[in-house]
Amino acid sequence: MNGDTSVNNQTAFIEQLPKVELHLHIEGSLEPEMMFELAKRNNIELPFATPEEVKAAYQFTNLQSFLDIYYQGANVLIHEQDFYDLTWAYLLRCQQDNVIHTEIFFDPQTHTSRGIAFDTVINGIHRALKDGEEKLGISSQIIMCFLRHLDEESAFDTLFEALAHKDKIIGVGLDSSELGHPPEKFARVYSKALEEGFLTVAHAGEEGPVSNIYDSLELLKVSRIDHGVRCSDDDNLLYALANNKMPLTVCPLSNTKLKVFEKMEQHNIVDLLRRGLCVTINSDDPAYFGGYMNANFHAVAQSHEMTNQELASFTRNAIAASFINDEQKGRLLGKLNQFVSEFNH
Ligand code: ADE
Ligand code: ZN
Repeated sequence: MNGDTSVNNQTAFIEQLPKVELHLHIEGSLEPEMMFELAKRNNIELPFATPEEVKAAYQFTNLQSFLDIYYQGANVLIHEQDFYDLTWAYLLRCQQDNVIHTEIFFDPQTHTSRGIAFDTVINGIHRALKDGEEKLGISSQIIMCFLRHLDEESAFDTLFEALAHKDKIIGVGLDSSELGHPPEKFARVYSKALEEGFLTVAHAGEEGPVSNIYDSLELLKVSRIDHGVRCSDDDNLLYALANNKMPLTVCPLSNTKLKVFEKMEQHNIVDLLRRGLCVTINSDDPAYFGGYMNANFHAVAQSHEMTNQELASFTRNAIAASFINDEQKGRLLGKLNQFVSEFNH
């Protein structure tokens, strides 16, 4: 964009644009200030003296360097109210950024492995999301992720625990260390999850090879690929993803923080959009990567020349890719269209 007026216009457009988030780890929205508050409340000693020290430690070289510190941070979450407070704080950030619908991940094994009951985790998150719908008008879904560095048996145990909460969990996902833990490791767990009626997604092609994207589609029968940015390595895959309208939940600030791309200017999200892929913008772990939805939109728009219509298409794609019914999608689309048509009038 050229000139101050159009830059200001695009800044305002991004801030006011209705947004839909499809890739957010609720544990990744734990801000250092809340980490300290919960540590105090739960009598837990942190290896840092201040929230500023925590922030200074967020210098990542790759995915694993982030995951090591991220799992440590989650240790302060003990009681149902902690999970409620964490989720509520995220919803307030959604409200600030005009996020009107969100589909959030949680990692039960991060907590059950520390002796926290599955019910404690899901009930706290779910209660906050229900309040978010009633008090803030933000609709939501919950997706349960398996940690791929753990074994198949642990994933099966987690899936069986989730069966009692089918009314709260729309789908299952796969996260944590991609390298060395390919989709095939969880093919049987996913097959059971699909049989039980869960939708499926998986992190693939974040750091790992395109074969992880192919295998997530074929073996795990995913409805969306989380990240998927490595698809640029394979023209046939690009063609298939565009042709099948397979959504990619892309996380720009995460990708630069974790060195998937050195600089935002090198990020392929705008190229993928223009090649006709159903790409969306998401914040992944906003407390660790420097920002929520608006910050991710700004980072992309500041480093790539884009039209406001293109920016709106990220929300259009996210609505199409969301796990809600057609009537709900129609309502969100109505809000988006109304905003776009009124913005310049
Ligand atoms: N868990 C939380 N954030 C993640 C990411 N970006 N990739 C894989 N696992 C994650
Ligand atoms: Zn993620």
